[in-house]
Amino acid sequence: MNILLLYISPGKTTEKISKALSDRFEADGHRVTRLNIGKPGSRTFKEVGSSIFYDMDLIGIGNPVFHLRVMHPLTEFLDQALPYAKPRFGAFLYLTYGGISSGRALLDLSNQLKKNNIPILGGFKVWAPHFYNRVEYPDIEARKTIDEFYSRIKESGYQPLEDEKTKRLFSYQTRKVNIAYHLANVIGNLRELPIQFDQDKCRGCNRCVNECPVGALTMQKIPVRDTSKCVYCYHCAAVCPHGAVICPTEKVADMVRTNKKLIGVENPQNAVYL
Ligand SMILES: Cc1cc2nc3c(=O)[nH]c(=O)nc-3n(C[C@H](O)[C@H](O)[C@H](O)COP(=O)(O)O)c2cc1C
Ligand code: SF4
Ligand code: SF4
Repeated sequence: MNILLLYISPGKTTEKISKALSDRFEADGHRVTRLNIGKPGSRTFKEVGSSIFYDMDLIGIGNPVFHLRVMHPLTEFLDQALPYAKPRFGAFLYLTYGGISSGRALLDLSNQLKKNNIPILGGFKVWAPHFYNRVEYPDIEARKTIDEFYSRIKESGYQPLEDEKTKRLFSYQTRKVNIAYHLANVIGNLRELPIQFDQDKCRGCNRCVNECPVGALTMQKIPVRDTSKCVYCYHCAAVCPHGAVICPTEKVADMVRTNKKLIGVENPQNAVYL
């Protein structure tokens, strides 16, 4: 089978899950193409081109939950790309999340697939830490989830789910999240922490510019941020090797606490939806 994994991954957790997933498929003789749409040259569907879908049997779509939502660059990419996708068996979804809310992300993504008449085989979610790159990941539990998901879709003969079942499976948090979305809109600006670049510390290495998942940074004397593009993932602050990005990332923990208070915490858990 030819399998395409399309995902976005500022902090590289989703990338690592995508790699573990493709290792699992490849161990069984399948061919996997992975496309991180946050990378330079692959941020827009125009850059990538419709030929990525040529001869595909299965598509996996991976999203890290940021600020309760599907990352909007992924939504926008899929809006343009999915009309060209005709996978033989259909598509599946996978989510990494920090345990605040996996919320409506799976439901929203499944609706996007449905709108494009792409059959859905199911999905899974795995817990992942914030700014994870300091710990070993994927852990054994995440690998087990990947294994279970793969074994079960294989056993089913890559059968798509019925619409009703897809909706039921992915609606596990709808009521809570409808309220949370409303509140999140009201307090939305809380998540937009200030981000500045210290010109004395910046060495112009371009790491933040290259790794910003939405291309919001351009290098002038120091990086300059386009606030209309920034998705407030704080990846630039996490990766700068010279401490030149001034941003109170410790406040992300406060934001997490606020979210937990507002919507109640979702026990961090891995799950397979089939
Ligand atoms: C700024 C920020 C916001 C986040 N918001 C959420 C959230 O709303 N809900 C949640 O469950 N996890 C949230 N997380 C945790 C991420 O979903 C988790 O760390 C994910 O694995 C990141 O994926 P990546 O490493 O591929 O970027 C957030 C993480 C960051 C850094
Ligand atoms: S990663 Fe840090 S040092 Fe490198 S360009 Fe960005 S701000 Fe400057
Ligand atoms: S500029 Fe914005 S979108 Fe880009 S890495 Fe920094 S916080 Fe994320």
